[in-house]
Amino acid sequence: MTLNDKIAQAASLLKTIASDYAPATFASSLGAEDMVLTDLICKHAPDISLFTLDTGRLPEETYQLIQRVRERYGLPLRVYFPQHEAVEEFVSSHGPNAFYESVALRKHCCHIRKIEPLRRALAGHKAWVTGLRREQSATRKDAQVQERDADNRMQKFSPLIEWTEQDVWDYIRRFDVPYNTLHDKGYPSIGCAPCTRAITAGEDVRAGRWWWEHEDLKECGLHAKSH
Ligand code: ADX
Ligand code: SF4
Repeated sequence: MTLNDKIAQAASLLKTIASDYAPATFASSLGAEDMVLTDLICKHAPDISLFTLDTGRLPEETYQLIQRVRERYGLPLRVYFPQHEAVEEFVSSHGPNAFYESVALRKHCCHIRKIEPLRRALAGHKAWVTGLRREQSATRKDAQVQERDADNRMQKFSPLIEWTEQDVWDYIRRFDVPYNTLHDKGYPSIGCAPCTRAITAGEDVRAGRWWWEHEDLKECGLHAKSH
């Protein structure tokens, strides 16, 4: 399939989501895939709302991109923060960088800073859209374009599921889509600053995420397997 075919397919799916699953919302991490989706949604399905989860630990470059998205697209990008009491309790008990100490503490931090805010962001919607791609990691190789998200009790759509990294970058270049400057510094996958590092040639694209953990554990829970 050519990139044009993939674009047409993604645009048509986004239109269907907007009409058949209203209200639908798109979770943007401001990563490269999510910038492609932002551009597609703006052009083809502006009824799909946009939100991002600001964990409080994002890299400065991601904040700069949030600002550029506001300027370029003029779409309202709703920002969700964690519950401050939960962050205060966690950081006071375990320290600011507890995620390096154990997988349990890392998951706890992700729960407070991402999962709980995601629940609030998704409440009241019929479907959500994500930028997942199968190629991204072993944990995502069976992901489907449409899945039932049992935890959030709604449909989850990933219109770029079959796109390659090359497709994503070809789209970004062709339509001059803004992107996170960290991508030019060896960061293909970007999350929170303390939990993301650059990768070196030959490493897996998600090797820089929670790099101190075993491969199979490297999901934060936003994308739990459907039941
Ligand atoms: S993660 O689970 O490891 O953090 P990844 O960074 O690959 O996920 O992003 C996969 C998809 O999850 C994104 O395309 C986006 O839809 C959603 N997502 C991840 N992080 C966020 C965030 N901070 N805010 C909103 N959506 C996010
Ligand atoms: Fe916390 Fe790191 Fe998860 Fe961000 S990625 S929520 S800093 S453990």
